[in-house]
Amino acid sequence: MCGIFGIVSKEEKPLGPILTEAGKRLAYRGYDSVGAAVFTDNSIDLRKDIGKVEEVNEKLNFSEMKGNRGIIQLRWATFGAPAQVNAQPFMDCKQEIVGAENGNIVNSIQLQEILENEGHTIQSTNDGEICVHVVAKHMRAGKTMLESIQLAYKELKGDYALIFFNKVENKIYAIKKGSGLVVAVTENEAYCSSDIPSILPLTNEIISMQDGDIVVLEPGKAEFYRADTGEKVERKAKVHKETMESAQKGGYDHFMLKEIHEQSDRARDLIDLLNESKFVEPFVSALKSAREIYFVGCGTSYHACQLGSYYFNKIANKRAIPSLPQQFIEEFGNSLTSEDAVVFVSQSGETKDVLNALNYAKEKGCKILGMLNVLGSTLMNISDVYLPIACGYEISVPATKTFLNQAIMFLYMAFRQADKDTSELAELPGLIQKTIDETDESCKEIAEHIKGWKELYYLGYGITHPIAKEGALKLKEITYMHCEGIFSSEFKHGPLSAVEKDYPVAFITAPENVDIMISHINEVACRHGKVLLIAEDNEVLQKYATSFVKVPKTNQILFPLLATIPAQLISYYASKNLDLDPDFPRNLSKTLTVD
Ligand code: M6R
Repeated sequence: MCGIFGIVSKEEKPLGPILTEAGKRLAYRGYDSVGAAVFTDNSIDLRKDIGKVEEVNEKLNFSEMKGNRGIIQLRWATFGAPAQVNAQPFMDCKQEIVGAENGNIVNSIQLQEILENEGHTIQSTNDGEICVHVVAKHMRAGKTMLESIQLAYKELKGDYALIFFNKVENKIYAIKKGSGLVVAVTENEAYCSSDIPSILPLTNEIISMQDGDIVVLEPGKAEFYRADTGEKVERKAKVHKETMESAQKGGYDHFMLKEIHEQSDRARDLIDLLNESKFVEPFVSALKSAREIYFVGCGTSYHACQLGSYYFNKIANKRAIPSLPQQFIEEFGNSLTSEDAVVFVSQSGETKDVLNALNYAKEKGCKILGMLNVLGSTLMNISDVYLPIACGYEISVPATKTFLNQAIMFLYMAFRQADKDTSELAELPGLIQKTIDETDESCKEIAEHIKGWKELYYLGYGITHPIAKEGALKLKEITYMHCEGIFSSEFKHGPLSAVEKDYPVAFITAPENVDIMISHINEVACRHGKVLLIAEDNEVLQKYATSFVKVPKTNQILFPLLATIPAQLISYYASKNLDLDPDFPRNLSKTLTVD
């Protein structure tokens, strides 16, 4: 996720070290390039490059930058590769204003065309540059900076936070719409930032901006205006007592919980991106024209591949074969041809097992499609076509938000394969939030209930089978208990023998599979096993349940996505109850670059 920080000071002073330190405090969000801009000697001094804050500082000497106003931005690439030209901040054509963005401008392609027709030169493929040119356009037409930002607000579609300054006024301007932005004022300075930790060492009195707010910062002063009406509004500071580390976790106890709670916003980011991106069409058409389609990934990413395969079958009547990378080579390798398309799915884009299979498929001439979170990764560089899942940095080792967005991407692709309208996806972010809000309590109770258990089966039928496997993986990964996720109809072919009084089995039941699941539940219930249910509210199911997590009402297709959330939350709380650290489970690593 990108991070931004801006400062305006009464006196000209060495701002480079302040910006560098603020940048370091934003680094936990993940990034691939850094840039800083200050106003000095009647011009804007802008320095930026790919790399870590320390590396770029050493190379470009941020430390020597002086001035009375400045911005630093850490960029996490989603579109536009990580490259110097795409690093932020950006200046307008006349180098009179500078600005940086966090977020996504979903109509940037259309705006770029308009701006270029009006004579603007856009150098990067980063939508942040578009924001600066849009504001500059209005200033050239004689508007003040505040008026120009108000006009830009009407044109820029998407969720974003923007910070600007110009050559004339000793002020910082910022606007918030959808992305986080906070402000603080001290006697001789004022600051704004995408998040609290970067400001905390400077002051702990922090003002949270609201969506649609513009702030004008001067040394010792902050004035707030509504972007749509121009009305001046009051925003009050709150004293923050948390440490920097807890602030980085956004007030949550662990990154895992923070990342679970982010899922609604990240889903919205991805849906916006899919609706707008020019990279989508080549991906869709490569799949449409393929003779055979394979989805390849490891661990959680493999479960997303399995769900993707169900979606392709159910929505597009199309076969897509999910496979583990080694299995892909061993089981399908000899039959691969240049007419086949292989989607390699990896959050990190660096998993060695995946890259081995990718190199194999490349030699066979297959079309290589990458689905990844980390731009600039090896998977991105080797793929013929790639799409980012737009999750931002995932810190906790257990994958949560990246699974959900991989699954949403597969669902979108299935709709496109079937030439069906994708607008149904628009309701997902709201449903995801509702599921988090409505299932959290019952997940806590179940986690308490399973404390001390040494094993558990998760059963799913059809489209919920991958979710049962994902729920089981999450639970074993961070509680170290044994847990297996299997297809519910397979249970009677062996594992059922383990069931005795109080033996625990969890069932993830999609709305159209209630009847068949009842018979599978019965196999456990009649042997006095414990039945944990994740399903929509249902009177009959209720009768069998020892514990019931009620998922908000939706449909067969969206249900698996929502059902993932309680499975994540149960694992999280179970791990916490055992006093384990869910973010960093023993023996595991976030990126596995070994065979
Ligand atoms: O970066 P990748 O998506 O390629 O990682 C694959 C697996 O190592 C990963 O999903 C792993 O299973 C997760 N830690 C599970 O939560």
